[in-house]
Amino acid sequence: MTQVAPPSFPHRHLLGIEGLTRPEIEGLLDRADAAVDVSRQVEKKRNVLRGRTQINLFFEPSTRTQSSFELAGKRLGADVMNMSVASSSVKKGETLIDTAATLNAMRPDIIVVRHQSAGAVHLLARKVDCSVVNAGDGAHEHPTQALLDALTIRRNKGRIEGLQVAICGDVLHSRVARSNIISLQALGARVRVIGPTSLLPSGIARFGVEVFTDMREGLRDCDIVMMLRLQRERMNGSFVPSVKEYFRYYGLDGDKLALARPDALVMHPGPMNRGVEIASDIADGAQSLIREQVEMGVAVRMAVLEALASHLPNG
Ligand code: NCD
Repeated sequence: MTQVAPPSFPHRHLLGIEGLTRPEIEGLLDRADAAVDVSRQVEKKRNVLRGRTQINLFFEPSTRTQSSFELAGKRLGADVMNMSVASSSVKKGETLIDTAATLNAMRPDIIVVRHQSAGAVHLLARKVDCSVVNAGDGAHEHPTQALLDALTIRRNKGRIEGLQVAICGDVLHSRVARSNIISLQALGARVRVIGPTSLLPSGIARFGVEVFTDMREGLRDCDIVMMLRLQRERMNGSFVPSVKEYFRYYGLDGDKLALARPDALVMHPGPMNRGVEIASDIADGAQSLIREQVEMGVAVRMAVLEALASHLPNG
């Protein structure tokens, strides 16, 4: 496959999908396609980030996102350090800004940050000299998840333009939903959100999405069914009557999936609650792209790190 060099990425940080243009998003997806090829080779090492230091700063627990950023950095030749909240001085009352200043003094080149508060990553980016990547901030944005979802869709459907995508479930607490709505619309898809009123942000229609509270109605003619995790750790108070009820109305099972297009594909960012938002046989079934999303996650993170590399000092 001949690769045409993607256009250079004009930003020093990746803080969100908001503010990116369609060609910038597509450029990252093109780079990610090339990174998939690299990741499938025996020799996976590149030297774009050789000599560079990448810090993964995670204030919230994460398995797949953190390991995916770690592998991506290592495949590009960076020295990667993982720092998680449990082992940091945040527990001792140090503020986000102090932590940023301390890390900054260690002269990293890239900091990948996950934080439980929306906006924390933007704040941190203003306090450090290096590039910052948002790995999820509160219910705000999770740009690399949206990029890996777009890549997975584009590789399986051959396009994103004109597709009907349904994002289903706990939209209220979901940074994945927010980033995906912005990204998929920028790429020309039509987006619906489906969920109980208690789990849909008020004013969601302002995003230009169609809103459904009846999942059976909402799934009709969809090309992509994107399920979201019921984020019980973010709920104080009762948003759903019971898990059993929730599954009955909003869990994706074979009967409901049959209402989408016959060639519809199923996605989930993980971690999944099997039997809560998705039936096990659907998660593992022929229409599921969930495993592939994980592979695309490493490729997209390689693409983002590589795109930012040209903005690093002496880059
Ligand atoms: C998502 C997240 O953390 O926002 N997961 C992930 O990045 N692997 C979605 C979720 O937690 O449900």
